[in-house]
Amino acid sequence: MKEVYTLDDLASRSSLDEASGHLARLAVLGYPVAHSLSPQLHQDALDQAESGARYIRLEVPPGRVAEALDRLADLDFVGANVTVPHKFEALSAADEVDEGSAMLGAANTILFDGDRKLAFNTDGPGFVRAIHEEFLVDVKDLRIMVVGAGGGAGRAIAAQCVREGCEKLILVNRTVDKADSLATELRPYLESERLEGPGERIKSFSLDSPEILAESDQIDLIVNTTSVGLQRSDPSPLPSSCLQPHHLVYDTIYNPAQTRLLQEATRIGARSANGCSLLLHQGALAFELWFPGNQPLSIMRRSLTRALELK
Ligand code: ATR
Repeated sequence: MKEVYTLDDLASRSSLDEASGHLARLAVLGYPVAHSLSPQLHQDALDQAESGARYIRLEVPPGRVAEALDRLADLDFVGANVTVPHKFEALSAADEVDEGSAMLGAANTILFDGDRKLAFNTDGPGFVRAIHEEFLVDVKDLRIMVVGAGGGAGRAIAAQCVREGCEKLILVNRTVDKADSLATELRPYLESERLEGPGERIKSFSLDSPEILAESDQIDLIVNTTSVGLQRSDPSPLPSSCLQPHHLVYDTIYNPAQTRLLQEATRIGARSANGCSLLLHQGALAFELWFPGNQPLSIMRRSLTRALELK
């Protein structure tokens, strides 16, 4: 069994399942994909459900996602997860997209229905569950600042906050044009729900704008969706003066477990959590799409804890 499979391995069942008792029937597609914890997250739950299925990593170069998904459907796969940078390509390759993935503009889960590819996005709903689990609050009741609202993860989380009808959304990004255009795109959804002055509930700022300091007074939840923090030597993506004890601080990064942002949040007495819960809940929701009626959360929680300890 390989740690990472390629498109060439999809030529036939025999090359894919060589030396394995279980058929590969689920995959995570990415580029690169060797770092993905999805096989560890899903395999124990698949075994517990007696699915007889194996979960593999599949490296797919950009531009070849549709072809890869067609091959998986031909090989009778149940479904797939899709990670960076393929979430947009997966959405366009799908025959049907659910409302969430359409609004988030990206798909992270595919379910095969014969040769049809159905696309979903469990990142958004997974985020809502993660915030509830970590802080016992609902996204819809919060004033939220999304830092990194120019990347794929920031976009998905911001769009989900809007779907939930959150109280207020502040989009912050190093390249402010991207946050501005996301705000323009999302504003009609949020503003149409309540009568307030235009632009009041969604605003966008550059990371170095002095205005984010004043805005942070009126914020409950700060979410980091930038890649700043993935390296242990990385600084916090947000000036520490923006953090206050009343904030809930969520970092979508889970490895390292304590980014500089989370350390600073703890230091000033704010409650904080890392992205482990998001990884867990998006995975459990995908599993439930593939195997309806299953409740994989507790076994996945154990598998993830073990996988992270081994890292
Ligand atoms: P994606 O999630 O689409 O792959 P990415 O290129 O990894 O995107 O970047 C994710 C986010 O991290 C973006 O918001 C990016 O800001 P820009 O849009 O300005 O590129 C942010 N980001 C990456 N490096 C950063 C840094 N050193 N400082 C601040 N933000 C950074």
